[in-house]
Amino acid sequence: MTYTQEKQSKANQAFDKEDWSSAYKNVEKELTNEPLNTIKGGNIYELNGTLFRNGPGILERGGQWVHHPFDGDGMITAIKFDNGKPSLTNKFVRTKGFLEEKKINKFIYRGVFGTQKSGGILNNALDLKFKNIANTHVVKLGNEILALWEAAGPHALDPNNLDTIGLTTLSGVLKTNEAFSAHPKSDFNSNASSELLVTFGVQTGPKSTIRLMEFSNAGENSGELIVDRKDTFNGFAFLHDFAITTNWAIFLQNAIDFNPLPFVMGQKGAAQCLKSNPNKKAKFFIIPRESGLFKGQPPITIDAPDGFVFHHVNAFEKDSNIILDSIFYDDFPSVGPDENFRDINFDNYPEGNLKRSIINLKGKTSTLETLSSQCCEFATVNPKFLGLKASYSWMACTDKKIGNAPLQAIKKINLNTKEEISWSAAPSGFVSEPIMVPSKASNKEDEGYIFVLLWNGKRRGSDLVILDAKDLKELAIYELPISIPHGLHGSWVNN
Ligand SMILES: [Fe+2]
Repeated sequence: MTYTQEKQSKANQAFDKEDWSSAYKNVEKELTNEPLNTIKGGNIYELNGTLFRNGPGILERGGQWVHHPFDGDGMITAIKFDNGKPSLTNKFVRTKGFLEEKKINKFIYRGVFGTQKSGGILNNALDLKFKNIANTHVVKLGNEILALWEAAGPHALDPNNLDTIGLTTLSGVLKTNEAFSAHPKSDFNSNASSELLVTFGVQTGPKSTIRLMEFSNAGENSGELIVDRKDTFNGFAFLHDFAITTNWAIFLQNAIDFNPLPFVMGQKGAAQCLKSNPNKKAKFFIIPRESGLFKGQPPITIDAPDGFVFHHVNAFEKDSNIILDSIFYDDFPSVGPDENFRDINFDNYPEGNLKRSIINLKGKTSTLETLSSQCCEFATVNPKFLGLKASYSWMACTDKKIGNAPLQAIKKINLNTKEEISWSAAPSGFVSEPIMVPSKASNKEDEGYIFVLLWNGKRRGSDLVILDAKDLKELAIYELPISIPHGLHGSWVNN
């Protein structure tokens, strides 16, 4: 039975929380080139490349659970397609902390999202060390695959077997363990090169400094840093993601405060010390790209709309405006110290909505409009259209149209007309970030494939679903030989 058939036969059934929370368990094995079981469809012959995904793979050690899944050690899954035939390799990133904790099967570091060492507050107070858990994203740069975690340096991996080469400075570009964002952008539309990887690191404090880096990511000098700049802004900046156009890098500084005292005193994780400040105004920091027309010019700061943003979708330039699509929350969502992340009440958490900011660079103003009021996250565009005016976006969303719930469906929205179509894995399937891979046979924006890693709550295992990007019809479903907890980000790399 396929997901859409299951949905029709069980229409209007709400999800079962245990189907959802059963995904949260440790990944128990590491496999190499394991063929996948086909459940539906045949091999898609034009697929030659690898789907890389990152996410937490250790959620419990010695009977202690992490407080938040974002504190789990990074586990990379690579599903390689040879003329459409898939095989899976998965491996934990061998970070220093992972190796130390594995040896004694106990958490010995505090987690940013609230995981505490055993021994209570006294044993956690004044311990400000953190573990680079390399669990957020995985991308190709030059000849290496990088496992990313935004507060520290990237780990380089061997692309063939996912062995950890080690913490890297990218040939001296970074200081050891310098912050390096987990949201780099692959840019096929710059003035500088056929393909760039544009990314940033942020050093935060009473003033925050953004380092904007652009690397060549194709041809002879692939992996080399091409341009680099630093800009300092007032205030504490929590910057998880950014957006680019051909000439600009756009950051949204949320109106939040960081009070480190409960973290220092051992009561909370650092991220639990972030709090929205209704008296503050969010800001756009708009930095000219050094590969663009306005290189060398100072950044522009503009008041931003209210709300909290983790992820942006895309941005483009139109006359003297920048149009920026983002997922907005009413407030910063955080799992409190006394809550169990596997048993949360979704109704108590703010939901994400797709909204469009129109930023007027001349008038230094911004306005906000809602593109869709259905709860969603992890929105993307065709990667060839990143930084340009894209007509379509694909995203993970709830099955129901109103209110918060787990992400169970994939939606395609026409950003011009707001028309939507969707595919749902409800009631027992739970989706992750969709990854759009354009068809090699077509330049049309919505011709290609949508890869969705799915938690199959009925089977208590993971599936991979490939949808047609145009109409979201199921092209293939594969059963995976490992169970992967609800994860974070990933990317596709052509052979
Ligand atoms: Fe993210």
